[in-house]
Amino acid sequence: MSAEHQGDQADRHVYDDIVEHDNPLPRWWLVTLYGTIFFSLGYYLHFHVFKTGPTPTDELAAENTAAAKALIAQGKGANLGPEALLAMAQDEKTIQEGSATFQQMCASCHGDKAEGKIGPNLTDQYWIYGGKPDSIYKVISQGVSEKGMPAWETSLGPRKTQVVAAYVLSLKGKNLPGKEPQGQQED
Ligand code: HEC
Repeated sequence: MSAEHQGDQADRHVYDDIVEHDNPLPRWWLVTLYGTIFFSLGYYLHFHVFKTGPTPTDELAAENTAAAKALIAQGKGANLGPEALLAMAQDEKTIQEGSATFQQMCASCHGDKAEGKIGPNLTDQYWIYGGKPDSIYKVISQGVSEKGMPAWETSLGPRKTQVVAAYVLSLKGKNLPGKEPQGQQED
């Protein structure tokens, strides 16, 4: 019998030939247990209730946006990928530049507010070629010549094509009244 178990015969009991003692839990163990509970409470309040600090997900999104902005600033726009396109769609300067290109090159067919004319309404939830960042970029870049949508990548260059695609992405969900829905509904 170990030293800890000596002298506590009073709270010892036997069940099925197994001797049980009622020893107090070691202090270091209890301190650790209550410490973690206390820590988790602080963590929960900080990140999820008062939101006084960025969660890892927020930090990742911020890093992606910063990386995309840095690439745009350097004039490198090609092959940024869907996350960067989404980040660009949140960036005020990109939206302004994209909107200017849109007025110049696209409004004649898609309308001033992208509400649709000859080309589809780009503010509704219906997409012929898909409303995901990649799909929108692809249709703008390569066009659908047999249906009257020109390919833009050769004339605008990769960077401007991405900027105007980001602008189109930023219009998603505006649901402006205009041309009747075309294609499949997406959320
Ligand atoms: C000459 C007219 C014309 C111009 C200019 C034009 N488009 Fe289009 N666009 C169309 C037509 C027509 C379609 C639909 C093609 C179809 O029905 O298959 C289309 C389709 C699209 C789609 C796909 C919509 C969907 O529902 O999937 C996007 C995105 C788009 N255009 C963006 C642009 C952007 C951005 C510009 C300017 C850089 C532009 N278009 C300029 C005529 C045009």
